[in-house]
Amino acid sequence: MKATDIAHLLQQEPSLTEVTTRGWVRAFRSNRFIALNDGSTINNIQCVVNFENFDEDVLKDITVGAAIEVKGTLVESQGQGQKVEIQVSAVEVLGKADPEEVKLTILSPKRHSLEKLREQAHLRVRTNTFGAIMRVRSKLSFAIHEYFQKNGFNYMHTPIITGSDAEGAGEMFKVTNLDIKNTPLHEDGTVNYKEDFFEKETNLTVSGQLEAETFAMGLGKVYTFGPTFRAENSNTSRHLAEFWMIEPEVAFNDLADNMDLAEDFIKYVLNYALEHCADDLEFLENRLLQEEKSKPQAERSEMALRDKLKFVLENNFKRVSYTEAIDILKRSKPNQKKKFKYLIEEWGADLQSEHERFLVEKHFKCPVILFDYPAKIKAFYMRLNDDGKTVRAMDVLFPGIGEIVGGSQREERYDVLKEKMAAMDISEEELHWYLDLRKFGTCVHSGFGLGFERLVLFATGMGNIRDVIPYPRTPGNASF
Ligand code: 4AD
Ligand code: MG
Repeated sequence: MKATDIAHLLQQEPSLTEVTTRGWVRAFRSNRFIALNDGSTINNIQCVVNFENFDEDVLKDITVGAAIEVKGTLVESQGQGQKVEIQVSAVEVLGKADPEEVKLTILSPKRHSLEKLREQAHLRVRTNTFGAIMRVRSKLSFAIHEYFQKNGFNYMHTPIITGSDAEGAGEMFKVTNLDIKNTPLHEDGTVNYKEDFFEKETNLTVSGQLEAETFAMGLGKVYTFGPTFRAENSNTSRHLAEFWMIEPEVAFNDLADNMDLAEDFIKYVLNYALEHCADDLEFLENRLLQEEKSKPQAERSEMALRDKLKFVLENNFKRVSYTEAIDILKRSKPNQKKKFKYLIEEWGADLQSEHERFLVEKHFKCPVILFDYPAKIKAFYMRLNDDGKTVRAMDVLFPGIGEIVGGSQREERYDVLKEKMAAMDISEEELHWYLDLRKFGTCVHSGFGLGFERLVLFATGMGNIRDVIPYPRTPGNASF
């Protein structure tokens, strides 16, 4: 007989037909009640065994962590919180779990810390918390594709290995198959990349934007959703060395259209999570409430997780220029009282996470879109405003997260772009194809990048970005 997912069984009405299901034992009480989970839902199904009818040898192997298959009928549950349970007629242990080892790990009286679990992939995926996060992550991925596909965007795959530095920030991992102990050198001692696999210097991509721009110039509306890599030595709860980014790019969109798109898109996917991840979000909401009990009142969230998501859906993002934001920050209490680590002294300062979070959490108390940043602190490809000192950049800032989206209207004027590249020391030789776009039917166009893990952080209420990705890569860590 075909096995049925526990998620489906829990939706069914009691019935006399036999069902089969498989999963991992979460608990086995009184030699009678097995709590079984198969990852299809956060909820366990209760399986009731009449131990008198079963071989003792089988029962002793039904331990926490073991994989089992049960057959039985779905009967009305006596217990609370579930409609049905399985009255077991047959049980088979598919894979044993050493009870001694399990005791030391899963059953350990001190709840496993999230840090420790990151080193124990096989246990991590069995926890309620991580299971819930990964199901939400999966649903959000689907919602992202659904949003763009419904709205006429083409999904495109940008290269992972590239010769260009899309952000011009030099934070790249090199890709080479040269023997690092015996690198071929030029006479002046520099590496001779002609001898390398691609016969040039290459790196892992930091963003698919430039290639996406090329495609937008023919397909109109495109988006990427792929891994990106940054060798920035940022050991924070918001940075990964390998993260997933969604980058839409749209021909003929200006910055206002770009803001509308970002806001509509984010609202769509968060709403999708609320509608399709109810059980997991309820669990994560309670987890957060528990965790925050140990914090001082002032540091606790003002809203429960799902209320926070609904708040984002129901309110307009506040659109504020960089110049206005600097005025607000200059006059702010933490700046006056020197509470910021980086004090805001003058126009032109780069905003740190503490400033972004002040604006969102304390001042506006809603998501904020900052725009028109100083050209000096933003990438070379952003369109220069008529004032000659600001660019058509936008960052979307979220409560608890800071920057979740970075984007801009692109510099579509050949001469201006060429000048900016020269001024910022961006190699024309490497990016000739990007400049060419401006020679053949150039047009106003815009796009942005959403850091997927930052979105998952927000949706799940987790505090550390390492807990919302299956295998985090951070400075000093690339296990698995
Ligand atoms: O602001 P960023 O660097 O923008 C770009 O890469 C543009 N090329 C996007 C575009 O216009 N197509 O990165 C975009 C977003 C950030 O807002 C942040 O959410 C996320 O990517 N991000 C990171 N997430 C995790 N770890 C890191 N190290 C990240 N760096 C950026
Ligand atoms: Mg940015």
